[in-house]
Amino acid sequence: MNQSSATILVIDGDEISQKYISALLRKEGYQALAASAGLEGLISAWRDRPDVVIFDPALPDITSLEFLTRLRKDRRTATLPCVALSGQENLQEVSKLMAAGCNEYLVKSSETVPLLLQTLTRLLGKEDYAPMRRGKLFAFLSAKGGTGTSSLCANLAMCIGSSKPDKQVAVVDLVLPLGSLANIVGYTENINIVTVAMQRSDTIPPTYFKEKLPLIPGWYFRLLAGSPDPDTAMHLPGDRVVAILQMMSTVYDYIFVDLGRSLSRISLPIIQRADLLVLILGADLATSMLTRTVWEYLKTLGVDAKKVFAIQNRSVGLEGPTKPEVEQMIGLPVRLTIPYMGGTFTFSNNRHEPIVANYSKDAVGLALQEAASQMVALVEKQAK
Ligand SMILES: Nc1ncnc2c1ncn2[C@@H]1O[C@H](COP(=O)(O)OP(=O)(O)OP(=O)(O)O)[C@@H](O)[C@H]1O
Ligand SMILES: [Mg+2]
Repeated sequence: MNQSSATILVIDGDEISQKYISALLRKEGYQALAASAGLEGLISAWRDRPDVVIFDPALPDITSLEFLTRLRKDRRTATLPCVALSGQENLQEVSKLMAAGCNEYLVKSSETVPLLLQTLTRLLGKEDYAPMRRGKLFAFLSAKGGTGTSSLCANLAMCIGSSKPDKQVAVVDLVLPLGSLANIVGYTENINIVTVAMQRSDTIPPTYFKEKLPLIPGWYFRLLAGSPDPDTAMHLPGDRVVAILQMMSTVYDYIFVDLGRSLSRISLPIIQRADLLVLILGADLATSMLTRTVWEYLKTLGVDAKKVFAIQNRSVGLEGPTKPEVEQMIGLPVRLTIPYMGGTFTFSNNRHEPIVANYSKDAVGLALQEAASQMVALVEKQAK
């Protein structure tokens, strides 16, 4: 179908938003129809037969579920492509609407414009239509620095990338003001989270992240490196980070984010969105106690214990609390303990090599591979 002749029905109770979206669509060459409530929208959909419907689920008259049910029940609109464009992300709403026959779910913001346009192009090019990919987000967090968060983030991503060649894996370094993943994997070029976030959002389509991010030799993932220095970090537009991850989730299956030791305006929305929160615990008592404080705080934000994957990493060779002691202290099961590896961990990092490249049959190599497959199994189970 010729995209410019396509008609899009915009149903939105908020007049400003409805006008904004309609004007945007017209600018792109679409015909735009508008309705300001659910019933009016249904009538227009049945009468005017648009090619796509975009609707804000917060309808003033009927529930979004009733809207979708009636839309899908009617033979004229049973297969009409339908995009929910919500004022705020509500993860329960996403699954409810998708189950009721909605094709896509996006969150309103100027950052979403390229995604919305890309979605329309896909929905209108019916032959090769495939629902938008929703990559899984693994967020790595620790309560204390130096516990091995970055090394484990890179190495676990590598285990998944190398064992699942059909999956696209990306790693994002969000440790501020100075990232370390580029050093660990040996990346020395200039693309990083700050340079990407500073570009105008409508100039970078989601495919940018697939094509332009470097594929790191031997690591089986693409890297969005962190800030190379504190000065650059000062220029990071933090409010763009979630949109960048959202775009990445349309082109990657698994996205690993290193948040380091940070609970901030930037990291908290990512922690709340994560499909799996990988919490790295150290070997000592002080770290376990800090972790308990962090976990108690995250619970108040609604983070679900089922989504937490705690790893105890003996990054220093000290005697420390045992696994059951740590579990009792923080109130979470420890899924994996990584032994102290002496210099081998640092040796691999210094050579920019993944641990399993050299120690795949050692206890630590096996533990990493086992943890990686458990993590994938957990997020895939949640998706069902
Ligand atoms: N199990 C382990 N055995 C031995 N050394 C380890 C182990 N885990 C991590 N290390 C070493 O500990 C150091 C810190 O690791 P890493 O940089 O991954 O930690 P981090 O938590 O990301 O630190 P930062 O707070 O600086 O971001 C590195 O030199 C790494 O090689
Ligand atoms: Mg780190």
